[in-house]
Amino acid sequence: MENKATNTQIIAEHLAKRFDIRNTDFSKADSREYLCDNLIPSDIFVIAGNGAVLETNRGKLFDLSSMSLNCILGQNDPWVNASIQAYIASGRPSFHSTRVGSEIYYEVAELIAKVSGIQNPVVNHRQCNGSDVTELAILAAYQHNDKDRELLVSFRGSYYGQNLTSFIASDLQTQNRFLLTEEPSIYFLDAPDNFLPGSSENLSSNDIKTLDELRTIASKAFAVIIEPIQMSNMVNVCNPSFLKELKTICEKFDIQLIFDDIQTGFGWLGTFSSASFFDVYPNLLAVSKALTAGYGPLSSLVMDKRYKDLPMSTVLKTNGADLRSLVAARAVIERLRGVPKEYIPSDLSTDLRHELEVGLFFSFKNKVEILEQCVQTLKQQCASRLGNIRGCGLIRCVEVIDNHGHPDPETCKKIQEQLLQSGVLVRSVKHGLLFKIPIVITDQELHEAFGIVSSVIRRFS
Ligand SMILES: Cc1ncc(COP(=O)(O)O)c(C=O)c1O
Repeated sequence: MENKATNTQIIAEHLAKRFDIRNTDFSKADSREYLCDNLIPSDIFVIAGNGAVLETNRGKLFDLSSMSLNCILGQNDPWVNASIQAYIASGRPSFHSTRVGSEIYYEVAELIAKVSGIQNPVVNHRQCNGSDVTELAILAAYQHNDKDRELLVSFRGSYYGQNLTSFIASDLQTQNRFLLTEEPSIYFLDAPDNFLPGSSENLSSNDIKTLDELRTIASKAFAVIIEPIQMSNMVNVCNPSFLKELKTICEKFDIQLIFDDIQTGFGWLGTFSSASFFDVYPNLLAVSKALTAGYGPLSSLVMDKRYKDLPMSTVLKTNGADLRSLVAARAVIERLRGVPKEYIPSDLSTDLRHELEVGLFFSFKNKVEILEQCVQTLKQQCASRLGNIRGCGLIRCVEVIDNHGHPDPETCKKIQEQLLQSGVLVRSVKHGLLFKIPIVITDQELHEAFGIVSSVIRRFS
């Protein structure tokens, strides 16, 4: 049999010139007309990427947004790149149906299950997006509803994605419910109050009222779905006591608790799941995005064993798992918690060898402290334009205010645009600038990038 792996290597060596960044063809931007209007990028053209920095036609672009795909490892992480490269060159399967198994398919299920913090779990891999896995979580909870309960409980300010089920369940997707003929049975509770890490964990009167309201409808509800940190609601962080009480109510009334961990899982909080971070464990945990750190689509539903017989009509999708995504997911887990010593080459620099061995979580606390310093300095330097700072771990939202101290979404959007032109990519929502900082950013890059943020915002003062 012809050796396909060897042929791959020969062709790859020959093709290296095609991908050489020195040969970047900027005229490709002329093809922009083939994109639909709302997908046409700015005139910034990306040439290469390294960690938290993109090289563009305009120079350096600091990524303080994690590219919306939650690229916790930034660009071109050497461990993930090399893992995928080695897999592809190995001759192992490039795809397989989920009717057969393989080493990586089983191993990654076990790894994700073990790092999730969920007790005695099973995993359903999906080569898909986050919307698909939140939908699957809701369906799994519904199927296990043996009491004919019809109500799904959600929260104001929630966002679970872009398919029918997520349109229904997300408060921020109400405009897309036109596709439904019947009024869906979703009960929206008020969003929990934003919690400032380090402050008292006593419940606010709003949180107490919300939990009381849940008790009044509990006997009709089959599931509660919640993002422990609502990213699209200006990084609204749940009080850990709120989540604990929510869990107690769910247990008492036999309601399935679902965490949408798509923005918070796999590194952002220094843990693999928000469940471990808050020390509150749901019945179903939906993860995606950061799972492969941008190297391919993969979602996983992690759940109690009792959900393991998922509805057949939803579980057997064409792409149960993309193998490169699985290889990436294993590499991301290893990169965060440390690589087995026998796989680390001795001819790497001492620093990189040490980093690979101890894992990036090892220095997480230190990184968060430096981020906190940068954000506090920014707030002092731009006091007239910036309000509260929300968030924890590597996630922050900085509120933009007007001269009277009121929320100022228009200026926020303008600042975001100016930042992009000045070399810093951030997200924005309402009047909040959202920062999601890849864990691999260096201290110097953090200071440099926040220096740019400060000088841009001061122009608006
Ligand atoms: C909290 C949350 N859940 C679900 C999704 C949906 O993920 P996707 O866009 O991959 O379908 C998103 C997307 O941003 C999200 O932020």
